[in-house]
Amino acid sequence: MDKLDGKVAIVTGAARGLGRAYAKRLAALGAKLAVADINLRSFEEFKAEAKDMTGDNTVAEIEAAGGAALGIEVDVRDTTAVEAMVGRVCKEWGRVDVLVANAGGGRGRPMDTKASSLDPELLRLVTEMNLFGTVYSCNAVAPIMKQQRSGKIITVSSIAGTAPAADGGYAHYGAAKAAIAHYTRYLAQDLGPFGITVNCIAPGVIATGRIMATMIPGSSQSNRDRAELVALHRLGTVEDCARVVEFLATDLSDYVTGAVIPIDGGLVRG
Ligand SMILES: NC(=O)c1ccc[n+]([C@@H]2O[C@H](COP(=O)([O-])OP(=O)(O)OC[C@H]3O[C@@H](n4cnc5c(N)ncnc54)[C@H](O)[C@@H]3O)[C@@H](O)[C@H]2O)c1
Repeated sequence: MDKLDGKVAIVTGAARGLGRAYAKRLAALGAKLAVADINLRSFEEFKAEAKDMTGDNTVAEIEAAGGAALGIEVDVRDTTAVEAMVGRVCKEWGRVDVLVANAGGGRGRPMDTKASSLDPELLRLVTEMNLFGTVYSCNAVAPIMKQQRSGKIITVSSIAGTAPAADGGYAHYGAAKAAIAHYTRYLAQDLGPFGITVNCIAPGVIATGRIMATMIPGSSQSNRDRAELVALHRLGTVEDCARVVEFLATDLSDYVTGAVIPIDGGLVRG
């Protein structure tokens, strides 16, 4: 029997990159998978992501490997739409055991996003994509998990939420990701009495198609320089992160909650 046989998992932002790797790994462990994304074909935006696909989308990849998956297009900034997405998953499969609130990311250039001159629209967008989307997703699954008296919630911060970049860029993203880490600690206190664990991962620089294609206009450092700042002297892979998600989504982590776990190879920020 696989570790997650009979379980139902939702991964937001699962059409490409890290979310796709989480969805495929949890499905390979036996979970039925809701692949939730604002655009189920978002992999088309980056050549390396598109090239990596072995099926028409993440859902097709999971099904081809013998798993069960449901693709749902949803904008996590819209609380009503997030509720509807979770409602659909429950209608289909009757429960939710795992949520990976992964959808998010930054917008703008580091040189244009310093703390003292943040554009209000960009600040709103990035806070909504990351913090609000995470809170809405957790709000939507919490009543179901409480009723089940079990569940595993994994939120996604970033090294940017732990320490600022030396050039001070991406302040809006760093602040939103720091808020997610701290929100996670509160949520763990709230849901602990119901047997639900809530943990946060804080990836460093992970070589997704997007990161490798965009890194990072206006930044003072290239990816190669960045790898030299990592104790393990390499950038992270999506599988490096998916392994930690497996730990947090399975019984291996049953006595771990409220933790913020860096997955950064020992990166120090330059
Ligand atoms: N790649 C890294 O190095 C890194 C480092 C630290 C943290 N993270 C975080 O990990 C998560 C995934 O990163 P990634 O590199 O795979 O990003 P990515 O941009 O490649 O993928 C993000 C996915 O989320 C979807 N998405 C974006 N906004 C959405 C919304 N409003 N509603 C629903 N779906 C939405 C996109 O369509 C896309 O499929 C993000 O939260 C990111 O901030 C990534």
